[in-house]
Amino acid sequence: MALATLILAAGKGTRMKSDLPKVLHPVAHAPMVHHVMAAAQSLEADRRILVTGHMAEAVTAAGLAFDPACEVVHQAQQLGTGHAVDQARTALQDFNGTVLVLYGDNPLFRPETLANLVAQLDRVDVAILGFDAADPARYGRLVMDGDALHEIVEFKDATEDQRAITLCNSGVMAASAKTLFALLSKVENKNASGEYYLTDVVAHARAEGLSATAVICPEEETLGVDNRPALARAEAIYQSRRRTTLLEDGVTMQAPDTVHLAFDTVIEPGATVEPYVVFGPGAVVSAGACVRAFSHVEGAHVGAGAVVGPYARLRPGSTIGPDAKVGNFVETKNATLAEGAKVNHLSYVGDAAIGARANLGAGTITCNYDGVFKHRTDVGADAFIGSNTMLVAPVTVGAGALTASGSVITSDVPADALAVARGKQMNKPGFAKKLMDRLRAAKVAKRKEQ
Ligand code: UD1
Ligand code: MG
Repeated sequence: MALATLILAAGKGTRMKSDLPKVLHPVAHAPMVHHVMAAAQSLEADRRILVTGHMAEAVTAAGLAFDPACEVVHQAQQLGTGHAVDQARTALQDFNGTVLVLYGDNPLFRPETLANLVAQLDRVDVAILGFDAADPARYGRLVMDGDALHEIVEFKDATEDQRAITLCNSGVMAASAKTLFALLSKVENKNASGEYYLTDVVAHARAEGLSATAVICPEEETLGVDNRPALARAEAIYQSRRRTTLLEDGVTMQAPDTVHLAFDTVIEPGATVEPYVVFGPGAVVSAGACVRAFSHVEGAHVGAGAVVGPYARLRPGSTIGPDAKVGNFVETKNATLAEGAKVNHLSYVGDAAIGARANLGAGTITCNYDGVFKHRTDVGADAFIGSNTMLVAPVTVGAGALTASGSVITSDVPADALAVARGKQMNKPGFAKKLMDRLRAAKVAKRKEQ
């Protein structure tokens, strides 16, 4: 059966207290709506529709950035969840499959939970994902009649008895497009909120003699983000899940709770990530690599057997080759370190290519920025850059070349050459003692004056 997913993302999210639309607030560096779209995509839906309203332009752009094939329908006024779904009626008028409705602010549903819900349509006409709420608060209550779902009552419209029910509506619903839109035509807004409730579809289904049921899933998956504390909870749950998966897949983490991952972080089995490592978007760590404690890795690839950190910062465009080493207080940006290259202490390497086995001594800096333009630095294979060398870009140091420590290298160094670019040392015998004696005498004289 063909499948269409419909993600509701038109609401404003007032309680986020933010200019950013709610569904664009990030979880693990990806907008919440991307998480929902990823779950939808994993079901291999044939049609993927996003309902936008509040700040539609920004939400549409984010939706298309994730899935260029998604369709966007507009809900000009937010008149309720039923009204939001109804906006897709025209888009789906010739669609003969199943519709799965999801909320853009529920980023934690597992694909298998959603697939299980859709599978219920083999035996019922309308399937709802429910959960047993620890604190049912303002959720819609599921009124069951044995195994059958009788109706969903919104909190505002519920009786005292109904409010005592702890089985709640997650907001996810599946039905055939034909059934869903036929039932939606009957939904009115005569309720406490004056809204067209999607949830009323259930009571109408039962009135028509159709069947409805609820599938129960863990409450954690149903978390809806309406405010910042909930956003932080969603982040924590997401992080914990990803860490568990990585550990199960064969990644070593001594203190997984302290490792922060991004939505797209790739860590291959056999890699090690020490405590307190933070990954920004676009990080890949190959098998056998080790990211040591307190490092920050973003937009960077750490090659097999490479060691990064402790206290390293890899910024976007960094490629650390196999068996290369990046040590403490080293920052790289848009830089390639070839196999076995070493930058072990206190360096900045930006807009640079460092050849195989080259060694950058402590304090080496690529001076890549002249205040207006960025320039490149190339260091050849097996070169040895002395400590505290300033490589003033654009500049090339040839293979096997050597720079004397403390040099300011402003012009290219040929292969195998030694470059010395610093003041010549001069020793003045006895001068240090003479100078110190004079200073000490001056200090004694000053004390006497006081
Ligand atoms: C909804 C359910 C409730 C359920 C709860 C779970 C209804 C009537 N109620 O209530 O049973 O327990 O979710 O979290 O469905 N939206 C639109 N257009 C609108 C209104 C809403 O796109 O006109 C979107 C919102 O952006 C949001 C989602 O639909 O992503 C849910 O809307 P919200 O107002 O949060 O519904 P709840 O009151 O939480
Ligand atoms: Mg809500």
